[in-house]
Amino acid sequence: MAHESARKIIIKTPEQIEGIRQSGALAASTLAYLKPLVQPGVTTMFLDKKCKEYVLDHQALPATLHYKSFPSSCCTSVNDVVCHGVPSNKVILREGDILNIDVTTIFNGYFGDTCTMFKVGEISEYSSNMLKIAKTCLDEGVKQCFPGNKLSNIGKSIEKYARAQGCSVVFEFCGHGVGLRFHEEPEVSHNSETHQDAILRPGMIFTVEPMINVGKARTKIDKWDNWTARTIDGKLSAQYEHTILITDDSHELLTGDMEKLVEF
Ligand code: MF3
Ligand code: CO
Ligand code: CO
Repeated sequence: MAHESARKIIIKTPEQIEGIRQSGALAASTLAYLKPLVQPGVTTMFLDKKCKEYVLDHQALPATLHYKSFPSSCCTSVNDVVCHGVPSNKVILREGDILNIDVTTIFNGYFGDTCTMFKVGEISEYSSNMLKIAKTCLDEGVKQCFPGNKLSNIGKSIEKYARAQGCSVVFEFCGHGVGLRFHEEPEVSHNSETHQDAILRPGMIFTVEPMINVGKARTKIDKWDNWTARTIDGKLSAQYEHTILITDDSHELLTGDMEKLVEF
């Protein structure tokens, strides 16, 4: 069984890695482009429009558009929305909101996937603390990305940190292999209860994208769009995501230097 799950994980060639690196850089620069546009009074539909324009202007395609009937060029997830928030002209950002924008680009056929959190105006200390914890959860996962390590150590260390902070980790959505397609093997759990037996090898590329909740871990999907995933208790959720290459001695973040983007 160990071989079965490991075998399906694609080891990328140097040429593929360079393609995914370029796509990842574009996805990251899309988030940087959107950052100053995130303001009170702006709709998530407007941000989606600007995202689409930017990606198309760079000879790329937004991977989410029409993916399994998803209608938009990015996901916009506000406050209690965990992930897959559908941009809408009815969602108007308000001072104090926290917003996740998740962008996946297809450039020369290669996929790069990243998301980060934005503050809408000034946010409370409570929200700010939540963002710090979620970002540190991503960093904890990334630290486990080196060749020879067990894939399952990523989720283990994320959950350990999140729990120590009194937060919970969403188990209904995972990270994923990425690059030649949007979602490839392996599934990357952000929790400790996992049966992932794969060993990380140079040339593997996958996302780490933990969704961290202040309250309960469970989510529910909005009936009216069948996409928007919310916390079951209406409390805050936050998520940061990188596309990560396992290298000969460590890892490379293919979706750029997020430190320039993050603000707490
Ligand atoms: N970008 C998301 C991820 O990190 C996936 C969005 S799929 C969509 O895996 F259909 F909701 F857009
Ligand atoms: Co992803
Ligand atoms: Co994503």
